[in-house]
Amino acid sequence: MGMVGDTARMPDRLPSAASTGDLALPEAAETGRASHALARLGPAIDAFQAAHATVPYAAYQRPSDAATAGHLPEAGIGLDAMVDELAGLVAEGSRIGAPGFVGFITTGASTSGAIAETAMAFAGGQRYTIHAFNRLEHDSLRWLAQLCGLPEGVTGVYSSGGSTANLIGLGSARQSAFERLGFNVAEDGTPAGVRGRIYASELAHRTVHRAAAVLGLGRQAVRPIPVDGDGRIRLDELEAAMTADARDGIVPVATVAIAGTTDTGSVDDVAGVAAIAQRFSSWVHVDGAYGLIGNASPRLARLYAGLDLADSWIVDPHKWLATGVGVAATFVRDEGVLTRAFAEGDAAYLEGAFTPEDAPAVSQFDRMNGRWADQGLELSAPPRGVMVWAVLREIGRAGVIARVDRHVAYARHLADRAMADPRLELLLDPQLSVACFRYRAPAGVEPDALNARILERLRRETGQVPSSTVVAGRFAIRPCYINPRTTLADVDALVDAVIGFGDELTGGAAGGAG
Ligand SMILES: Cc1ncc(COP(=O)(O)O)c(C=O)c1O
Repeated sequence: MGMVGDTARMPDRLPSAASTGDLALPEAAETGRASHALARLGPAIDAFQAAHATVPYAAYQRPSDAATAGHLPEAGIGLDAMVDELAGLVAEGSRIGAPGFVGFITTGASTSGAIAETAMAFAGGQRYTIHAFNRLEHDSLRWLAQLCGLPEGVTGVYSSGGSTANLIGLGSARQSAFERLGFNVAEDGTPAGVRGRIYASELAHRTVHRAAAVLGLGRQAVRPIPVDGDGRIRLDELEAAMTADARDGIVPVATVAIAGTTDTGSVDDVAGVAAIAQRFSSWVHVDGAYGLIGNASPRLARLYAGLDLADSWIVDPHKWLATGVGVAATFVRDEGVLTRAFAEGDAAYLEGAFTPEDAPAVSQFDRMNGRWADQGLELSAPPRGVMVWAVLREIGRAGVIARVDRHVAYARHLADRAMADPRLELLLDPQLSVACFRYRAPAGVEPDALNARILERLRRETGQVPSSTVVAGRFAIRPCYINPRTTLADVDALVDAVIGFGDELTGGAAGGAG
């Protein structure tokens, strides 16, 4: 490395400041007055939340042009004016937290998650070194594992969402599968001529396929296994696929059990999947991005039998825990595999940050306090666990169980109404908090198009906003209940609106010719 003064080896120098006077100019950004800014913003957030229930969805469709369009500002407007603009934008923000929003599997933060995130931004900084927020990273991972009924001693790591969490779990699986064959893929890459396979039901989230692509296995390495009438992976089909591949010398990298499919909320038979996978020496990965939290409820525990047989699990607190978007956890049984798969490696600039655990630390910087950089995809990252900590500290395990049970009961209530009303059709019996139903089209009316039209009107004209999917080839209106603000009245309002629009579009006949 060139030494300072070794001019022959120095690159062109950057121009220095025009004068030493420039060096005394004040910084443009405020780094204090947080309470002042929060006090200005707070009322706008309260008003936004209050309006959630009443303002029609369409009113939020376009962000205002005033503050978002235009050019890169040459001169800043200052903190106060910026906060005022921000407060105006809050009113036009995302409606995913509104009580009637039950689309996809997403929701807004409850207050504790959002407040914790704000505190984290000021006082949490990085998830490294020894500080209070970093401790919450550790504690909340342990709490989350306990909440979801995972085995003692699992190692967890946070990342930004189910997409990355699946990649970390499946990356560990790939490391393990190839190590058994004598290859270290993290160092040497995937060996030529060896084909790997990931088994997952046809309802697997597409982030599993993307993980396969990123891991060099290719999307085609994900073998879709058919599901039964309840949306669960068919074990006979899984066994047949693994047997055929074993004959062809294909390496079983991972077998995925889905604890809560995105489309239908179905929970695969984890014990059954694990029993087959283990016969073929396959890693078992549980994608519980949505549904793993359901195992907190004793009433649902029977759905999750065999969870302890898996090798890795993922869960998204930003779904059913409503922490605010941007936090998922991957847990693995074997910390060594995880670390070998994702180690960042040595870096000179981190010298000194690894004081032995038993040596007294005299500053925050004496220890990294977690091998996060070696156990996932990110180096810099916030201690997201504070959002999980905050929600669990606020409502406890009991609050989570109550929420899960309430939401599952909502889906059941909707299903019961759909079965009781001749104008409606239940497409799949709900297991968790997703219900798939539709208006029964009278003779001569194409049911998929009719229900797509109903969905469009729901979104335009009401506060009830589900999304859709296809169940066994049939278009379904699909609410997913994870939103803490949703009430039973919202569930009924959705059903009533579907009936109302269906009647109107078909001429009002209850299941008859329109
Ligand atoms: C089962 C499942 N896995 C993975 C994901 C991806 O999670 P994220 O959107 O947090 O990346 C989802 C998202 O809904 C999901 O339902």
